[in-house]
Amino acid sequence: MIRFKVKSKKEMGELAATYYVRQLEKKKDSLFAFATGSTPIPLYDELVRLYNEGKVDFSEVRTVNLDEYVGLDVKNENSYRSFMDKNLFDRVNIKKDNTVLPDGMAEDVDKACALYSAKLAELGTRDIQLLGIGNNGHIGFNEPSDGLSARTFAVTLTESTIAANSRFFASQDEVPKKAMTMGMAEIFDAKLILLLVSGKAKHDVLDAAINGPVTTQNPASLLQLHPNVVVIDATENDE
Ligand code: PGA
Repeated sequence: MIRFKVKSKKEMGELAATYYVRQLEKKKDSLFAFATGSTPIPLYDELVRLYNEGKVDFSEVRTVNLDEYVGLDVKNENSYRSFMDKNLFDRVNIKKDNTVLPDGMAEDVDKACALYSAKLAELGTRDIQLLGIGNNGHIGFNEPSDGLSARTFAVTLTESTIAANSRFFASQDEVPKKAMTMGMAEIFDAKLILLLVSGKAKHDVLDAAINGPVTTQNPASLLQLHPNVVVIDATENDE
């Protein structure tokens, strides 16, 4: 595991973007697994800036996403499909048909998870898996618990995740209680895992994930077992 410490979110985004530029120079139809939340926004802004300067081309890029809420229509601004469209896909020349997220509106959620898993398997190993980390150590929505799932599954969100994510909703009651998330084996099926972390509040959980024991109670600690993880750590301050 390589850990870069950077001074600001902007620097974090710029450094992260260099991995995508290099990967796209090697392979135009790279397969990326993207993430949502506040943390990746500086990366997406930087990728858009590079795109506008003609330095990066998404025309053949294929993407999947880590997770999606259950029960939010894709048009709902808090759905992760909306987030991805707004923050990245609508701002670059990616083909929407090449972007895949779990179907959060499926009537049969377990079946939708199985379909998403099958889609991940069909697409194959991700070139870059982007991750953030939750205040509780979750990656995707793999929440701390006695056991973790290997494949995409429907998860009941912990109170701490619902509270953390309520900042995007009118009230805490509106935060979906369930989500679909890639499982640990699927997250690990990537040539490179890029973990972005910003803000002082995440410093301790990141430190435990990197230096503490590997434990399902801090799902990010399992990343110690992956052969190629790059951590871009902007936890020194809140800028
Ligand atoms: P955040 O979420 O970037 O909005 O803090 C990260 C996560 O929960 O994985």
